[in-house]
Amino acid sequence: MARHINIENERETALRASVAELADGRPIALPTETVYGLAADATNPAAITRIYETKGRPQFNPLICHMADIAMAERYAVFDPISRKLAEAFWPGPLTLVLPLKPESEIHSLATAGLDTVGIRVPQGFAGDLIRRFGKPLAAPSANSSGKISPTSATHVEADLGSKINLILDGGAAAVGVESTIVKVEEDGRVRLLRPGGIVTEEIERVAGVRLERPKKAAAAIEAPGMLASHYAPGATVRLGATSVLPDEALIRFGGIAISGEETARIILDLSPSGDLAEAAANLFDYLKAADASGADTIAITAIPPHGLGEAINDRLSRAAAPRG
Ligand code: TXA
Ligand code: MG
Repeated sequence: MARHINIENERETALRASVAELADGRPIALPTETVYGLAADATNPAAITRIYETKGRPQFNPLICHMADIAMAERYAVFDPISRKLAEAFWPGPLTLVLPLKPESEIHSLATAGLDTVGIRVPQGFAGDLIRRFGKPLAAPSANSSGKISPTSATHVEADLGSKINLILDGGAAAVGVESTIVKVEEDGRVRLLRPGGIVTEEIERVAGVRLERPKKAAAAIEAPGMLASHYAPGATVRLGATSVLPDEALIRFGGIAISGEETARIILDLSPSGDLAEAAANLFDYLKAADASGADTIAITAIPPHGLGEAINDRLSRAAAPRG
């Protein structure tokens, strides 16, 4: 079991213990407003390697580098005018911008997977304060074993990685519950949505003043099923768009709407009885884990509205339902 420190009650202890671990090149689990991250010094190759080892990630993917503020981000990356507007509007917050790396940047190539760009995000609250105290960016993927559901509580992290890390900072349930929205502004001014997430696409479009180009996911899924990488995968099979439940299935529904057969479901979880998509996003990963833990072979999930945060929720659900690799 890892040491747990509550960031509200023991903030200063948490900051000191974190800086000590990070300075020694060890990853720590820390709360962000989206999901819990497994964070390490983004300039230290041994520390970054330990992130991959701890997650059991087979290959090196680019990691998001977390910064304290725009000024810190400017030390490592080049901002075009649209990215700057987005940073000013949404940081600190659940937006990741993919930006060209400055040539002299100290971010290690293991964090960027050798790309000449870097994904940067400025998290809210404790994580931002920790980065300011540590003085260097933190590379942090979600704090879960590769392919598993992202953690939204310290309990989730402990159950998965507690034996592999020394320190878990406990900030309670993550407020947003899905990962950051990832956006990249291309040289020709096109703005691409690389991953829907905690900031609603329409809000980004309003600030950017242009439509976002979305990944052609549906087409890709038909052309090449492998492209819809299985991710966020519970142990049980996931059945989307359910309009009825079979005996012994677990049910995740939305908006307080009962569906046929639910009396015999193993467990009934409603992401938001009042139909609030922000509440649904915050409950999503916890409910997927709870449905999985019910022992059901299949988790039936009713349709979730596609707009607003529903875009990110449906993205994570289709990955959870994708064929396992
Ligand atoms: O909310 C979040 O974003 C959470 C918390 C911990 O901050 N982090 C997170 O990290 O979701 P991760 O490692 O699960 O997702 C990182 C994704 C990669 O899969 C990759 O697609 C994208 O960010 N990414 C990072 N750097 C990139 C780059 N230079 N170019 C393109 N995509 C990049
Ligand atoms: Mg992840």
